[in-house]
Amino acid sequence: MTLHIGVDVGGTKVLAGEVDADGTVRRTARRSTPGRRVDAALVEQALTEAVAEVADGRRVDGVGLAAAGFVDAAGERVMFAPHLPWQGEDVRARLEDRWGARVALDNDANCAALAEATLGAGRGVPDFLLVTMGTGIGGAVVLDGRVRRGRNGMAGEFGHAQVVPDGRSCECGGAGCWEQYASGNALVRHARARVGLEPTLLEALCDGDPSALTGPMVTAAAEQGDPVALEAFASVGDWLGVGVANLVAALDPDLVVIGGGVSAAADLLLEPARRALGRSLVGAAHRAVPAIVPARFGPHAGIVGGALLVRGATA
Ligand code: BGC
Ligand code: NA
Ligand code: ZN
Repeated sequence: MTLHIGVDVGGTKVLAGEVDADGTVRRTARRSTPGRRVDAALVEQALTEAVAEVADGRRVDGVGLAAAGFVDAAGERVMFAPHLPWQGEDVRARLEDRWGARVALDNDANCAALAEATLGAGRGVPDFLLVTMGTGIGGAVVLDGRVRRGRNGMAGEFGHAQVVPDGRSCECGGAGCWEQYASGNALVRHARARVGLEPTLLEALCDGDPSALTGPMVTAAAEQGDPVALEAFASVGDWLGVGVANLVAALDPDLVVIGGGVSAAADLLLEPARRALGRSLVGAAHRAVPAIVPARFGPHAGIVGGALLVRGATA
């Protein structure tokens, strides 16, 4: 039995998982990541701990890192990451040395697209777009069955397309980026602004402290029909659909797959997104409008794709 581990290296947490060749996730371990303004060594320590916990003393054959950042075309370095402290760093080789196991590296959304293209919702679909919603928005472009990387390896950074001129400032240094309106962070921000103003289950869930509110709390409240939480999902879902309409206008894909942490609450998010797509897509009455579907691997798409990558899968 070989042991392959995929690790989603996100802006809020790292999630490592043992993944079989068929995409089954066996055991997982998580650590929180301290954000962007810290020493990269702290993130690497969190990664090392999560991988060791999953390995539980067994020899590791390979680790695939699905990183929330701009990975170079060679899959060696994280050149830039709005939510992580890595900048131009040779993460792959460094961690390979540290762990004594093969390490592969790609952007988190590209990894998710690899998982979905080979074993998931995009299987057999020539052209699809993948959008992940976590701390930020990740993206991948699959055309003719292949994940397109562009000149720098940085294709698919949809989250940083400007949707609001002079809008909210973004961790990337820009303003009005799509991920400021349609990510997990945006969901929490939206809900936070209303705690204390309207009656909501969120009040108790966060112990009266809006700054303690998390995405999973908003999901839990929405699932119980809480109007404030539902309104947060409606807003984020609507922004998701508007952005997807722009991507569909550009690339006319067969399908749009939504993954990432927030996709756990698929229908709460995807229903408003589908309505916004129908409303915003140019020529919607004269074309097939692509379906918006949840990633088969949901919030695990990144770790499954990371593990497939280090096993040598390509798309
Ligand atoms: C980053 C992407 C990443 C996405 C999701 C964005 O802010 O720029 O590289 O894929 O967040 O984690
Ligand atoms: Na990408
Ligand atoms: Zn941005």
